[in-house]
Amino acid sequence: MTNRIPDPARFPARFTWGVATSSYQIEGAPREDGKGPSIWDTFCRTPGKVRGGDTGDVACDHYHRLDSDLDMIRDLGVNAYRFSISWPRILPHGRGAVNQAGLDFYQRLVDGLLTRGITPWATLYHWDLPQTLEDEGGWTVRGTAEAFGTYSAVVAAALGDRVRHFITLNEPWCSAYLGYGIGIHAPGRHDLRASFAATHHLLVGHGRAMQAIRGQAPGAQAGITLNLHHTYPATDTPADRAAAYRMDGFQNRWYLDPVYGRGYPQDMVDLLGDLSPQSQGLVLPGDTELMGQPTDFLGVNMYSRAVGQDAPGEGFLHARQIRPEGSAYTGFDWEVAPDSLTDLLVRLQEDYAPDAIYITENGSTYPDVADEDGNVNDLERTQYLTEHLAATQEALARGAKVAGYFAWSLMDNFEWAEGYDKRFGIVHVDFDTQVRTPKLSGRTYRDFLARAGQAV
Ligand code: NOJ
Repeated sequence: MTNRIPDPARFPARFTWGVATSSYQIEGAPREDGKGPSIWDTFCRTPGKVRGGDTGDVACDHYHRLDSDLDMIRDLGVNAYRFSISWPRILPHGRGAVNQAGLDFYQRLVDGLLTRGITPWATLYHWDLPQTLEDEGGWTVRGTAEAFGTYSAVVAAALGDRVRHFITLNEPWCSAYLGYGIGIHAPGRHDLRASFAATHHLLVGHGRAMQAIRGQAPGAQAGITLNLHHTYPATDTPADRAAAYRMDGFQNRWYLDPVYGRGYPQDMVDLLGDLSPQSQGLVLPGDTELMGQPTDFLGVNMYSRAVGQDAPGEGFLHARQIRPEGSAYTGFDWEVAPDSLTDLLVRLQEDYAPDAIYITENGSTYPDVADEDGNVNDLERTQYLTEHLAATQEALARGAKVAGYFAWSLMDNFEWAEGYDKRFGIVHVDFDTQVRTPKLSGRTYRDFLARAGQAV
């Protein structure tokens, strides 16, 4: 990368600048106003699953602090806010009668954003599946994909006059692999065949949600958010290059190819053998078209890169991810690799030609130390943020149609299996008092956006 200092004037005039969160990670109020249980409510109550036995029962108490949180978002100077809608607040058991009180919360959220001049970006599924659907097989069964389509239609009909940007799924790789394959996320299953069944039904669900949004919210922009890693071979040998390509297949192409109408990559179907949804008899006629419903944008969540090495006999990929020496790492031990964001964005543009790419998440966790006033001088996170903004700028210069950037996250929150131990916020949250204090990274982002505003 030539220049690691981003220049606000080098971004397009109508660029989307946002912050992002998700329902279970910030809302709390798990049983309020008729909400049904989600798989994360259940998972958090299963001993040993979440660090320290933490739960999302209170989280950032956002459900009760909506107005002041909206003021905080406005004060950061962003023009967009990405949040997710809790399916079990709207349909407590996944399908059936609509819970109006749940819908009302999101009506107030959306109206509150619009009043403050902030564009709402609604994610329909950020991992909090209604427990009732999980009891029927969750994402391993096709019925969940159909139920997701119906739920999406309910939301699009209720909010679509004001919400003009919808994201169907957040990171289906995580739902499928972490949730059903290796059990570190809800619902905590350890079954690789089930995880590939889940990938298929998640992608079918995405297609159903796209159809629902098109039907109920004509003209709205809609797409999917994938967690993508640009993948490099550990060495230039043919074996390592092939290993990196398999890792790219598992994490990236397995989702990108179907979403862009190409169906599953055949090299991966062959490699997976019995694990594949095809060999499980789950891919029905018409599914390629359904999964490939035209989207308006690609949402990209990017945190790091992958470096792959050939490892014959290891796992189903016969590849392993290595930890390059000499790199900087975040508190999650994820390599800081801003150049890989540039490479990723350029590659996506070249290979899939999306009409627009939005970075729907990018951020970092570090062991923050707050002073007694809650101030956090998070130099590393600030550097991570500025380097990734510069990497985005570089991708724009190289022709990637990047149209927006959302920092993850608005504020510290419930980091899934890591509980409250891992903080990603650009605003600090004191979980004893619920006091929010912008960190250096938050103030830096705000100052950058003020300059971006002046530049246009
Ligand atoms: C991606 C997920 O969408 C989000 O929920 C999570 O907090 C971040 N990664 C950080 O791990």
